[in-house]
Amino acid sequence: MKILTGIQPSGKLHWGNYFGAMKSMFDLQAKGEQLFMFIANFHAMTTVRDGETLRAATRDVALDYLACGLDPARSIMYRQSDVPEVQELAWYLSCLTPMGLLERCHSYKDKMAHGFDATHGLFAYPVLMAADILIMNAQLVPVGKDQKQHLEVTRDLAQKFNNAYGEIFTLPDAYIPETVATIPGTDGQTMSKSYHHTIELFEDAKANKKKVMAIVTDSTPMEAPKEPEGNSIYELYKLFATPEEVAAMAAAFRAGGYGYGHAKKALLEAYHRLFDPFRARREELAKDPATLEDILQDGARRARAAAAPVMDKVRRAVGL
Ligand code: ADP
Ligand code: TRP
Repeated sequence: MKILTGIQPSGKLHWGNYFGAMKSMFDLQAKGEQLFMFIANFHAMTTVRDGETLRAATRDVALDYLACGLDPARSIMYRQSDVPEVQELAWYLSCLTPMGLLERCHSYKDKMAHGFDATHGLFAYPVLMAADILIMNAQLVPVGKDQKQHLEVTRDLAQKFNNAYGEIFTLPDAYIPETVATIPGTDGQTMSKSYHHTIELFEDAKANKKKVMAIVTDSTPMEAPKEPEGNSIYELYKLFATPEEVAAMAAAFRAGGYGYGHAKKALLEAYHRLFDPFRARREELAKDPATLEDILQDGARRARAAAAPVMDKVRRAVGL
C-alpha cells in the first residue's frame, strides 16, 4: 500500500493537526506501512509571504513529525520543493482541469471569506495537491475531513488524465478516521491555524496551560450536573485519555460537583503524559540541524526516485 500525505508549513502545528492527520499516519507506520510525508512549502506560499518565516516553519514541521514518531529509516519525509517535478506535473494536470471544478472548492471559498487575497496560486492549489499525490501513485491519503473535496478533485483529474492519455495514474482514496474527524479549538469552532484559537503541539508549558484554562465553556455552576457530550474540554480529553478515564470524566460531569476547571486540569495532565516524551525528543533533534537536513535530503532522493518512472510515462504520454 502506498500512503502519502502532506502538511503545509504555514504556522505552528496544533492538536487538530496531530489527531486529524499525524496520528493516523503514525498508526499506519506502526502497522509496518511505509509513509510518504512531505512538507508542502509550495502550498504554504499561498499564504506565507516571508522567506525566513517559510524556511523556519518548514524546519519546525520536520522536527514536529520526527519528534512525534515519524521514522526516517522506514518512511520518506521530504520538502515539496525538493521534488520540483510536482510543478511540472501540476501544469499537465492544469491543462485538463475545468475552471468550474476549482470554483466549487470550499477551501478556496473559505479562504476568500476570511480575507485572503484571491490569487491564482490559491485558486490552483488543488491541482498542485493532485500532482503531489499522483506523482507518487499514492493509493491512500490520510487527511482531515476538510481535505476530502481535494481528494475528490485529485481522483477526478487522475481519471481525466487516464481517459485522455491511457491508464497511468492510480485513483487514490482519502483516509479519514471518523472518530477524530473534527477537533474543536479553544472557542469550540474547528481548530485551525488560520483562526488563532489553536493549542500548539510544542509551545512553552506556561502558554500551553493558559490556553487550556481559557477554553470557552458555558456558565453552568460547579455543583450542577452537566452533559459532557459536545463540550469542547470533554471532546479534547477523549483524544488523549484512555476509555476508562473518559468514562470517569463523563460520570463526574453527570454526577455534579465537578467543574470545568477540574476537567481542564485533567486534560492538561493527559496532554503532558503523551507529549512530554515528544518534547524531549524534539529538543534533542533541534540541536543537530545537519542531521535534520540529511534526513530531508535522503527523503528527497527517495521521493524523486519514486516519482521518476511515473514522470517518464507521463512525459511520453503527453507528447514530450
Ligand atoms: P489548519 O486548518 O490549521 O491550517 P491544515 O489545513 O494545514 O491545518 O491541515 C493539516 C492537516 O491537519 C489536514 O489533514 C487537516 O485536515 C488536519 N486538521 C487540521 N485541523 C484539524 C481539526 N481541527 N480537526 C481535524 N483535522 C484537522
Ligand atoms: N492541502 C493540504 C492541507 O492543507 C496539504 C497538502 C498539500 C496535502 N498537498 C497534499 C495533503 C497532498 C495530502 C496530500 O492540509
